[in-house]
Amino acid sequence: MSHADKCVLARLCTLREGPKCSTLCGSYIAMHGHNGEGGRIGNGNLPAAYLLVTLDNSPARTEQSEIYGSLSVYVRTFTRQFGDETKPEPIKSLYLYSRTPGTGKTTTAAALLSEWITVHYVGSLRRGQQPVERPAYFLDINGWQTDYNEFNRPRVPEHIAEPAAARYYAARQRAMTVPFAVLDDIGVREPTEGFRADLHSVINARVTAGLPTVYTSNVPLDELHTVFGERRLADRIRDLCMEFTFKGESHRGMRKV
Ligand SMILES: Nc1ncnc2c1ncn2[C@@H]1O[C@H](COP(=O)(O)OP(=O)(O)O)[C@@H](O)[C@H]1O
Ligand SMILES: [Mg+2]
Repeated sequence: MSHADKCVLARLCTLREGPKCSTLCGSYIAMHGHNGEGGRIGNGNLPAAYLLVTLDNSPARTEQSEIYGSLSVYVRTFTRQFGDETKPEPIKSLYLYSRTPGTGKTTTAAALLSEWITVHYVGSLRRGQQPVERPAYFLDINGWQTDYNEFNRPRVPEHIAEPAAARYYAARQRAMTVPFAVLDDIGVREPTEGFRADLHSVINARVTAGLPTVYTSNVPLDELHTVFGERRLADRIRDLCMEFTFKGESHRGMRKV
């Protein structure tokens, strides 16, 4: 593996695989940090397995070729983030759905997140602007719910409850305000009232502010209201949102390392 394979910017980079393509490269550090786990991609909170996925190298690309064709058009709208503030052009949200797990939804969402960060980073430099430290954020809804449950159990010791609550509320704040977010697996069944309210407040904040979001789910968009327990929020998600249905069998557990 050359160093270029460890950097999501490589495909755009004129220095790739040259003598300057190393862990010392400033753009590499800006994207991945000194150790490959930081930088703007690290701040994006992607699960480790998805850190280097791009639309070009995504393992789901061949099987979901039709969707990837549409996505290559969609990502061109990401430059609208630099648009005229007085006349902003909206960037759509996406709803990636399949009933079966393991069809590449999370992989694709991760690739889109890294695409957004890349466009933000390169586009900011071109415009002589400082790229923000966290252009995008990945929220794993199941992991977030685990944190919620951890501090809401009866008689939970303080040293367990406190860090879980801190993580939980930091994630909530980031997911509500970050320019681009992935909300991974939003079709959680049987959430408690409190958790459901927080998930809804995140979605609501983003839709209201016109911030683009990639949702992944094993519940189709037109059934989401049954999981949410209300129609209003599910209807709001539909606004300026494209739904893609991922096909095929599960690839989980088939990964060659
Ligand atoms: N169409 C595909 N072809 C090959 N591998 C795939 C495909 N879709 C997913 N994978 C692999 O299967 C695993 C699960 O994919 P993931 O994106 O997490 O699925 P989902 O979010 O739809 O449940 C990952 O290791 C991914 O690389
Ligand atoms: Mg998934």
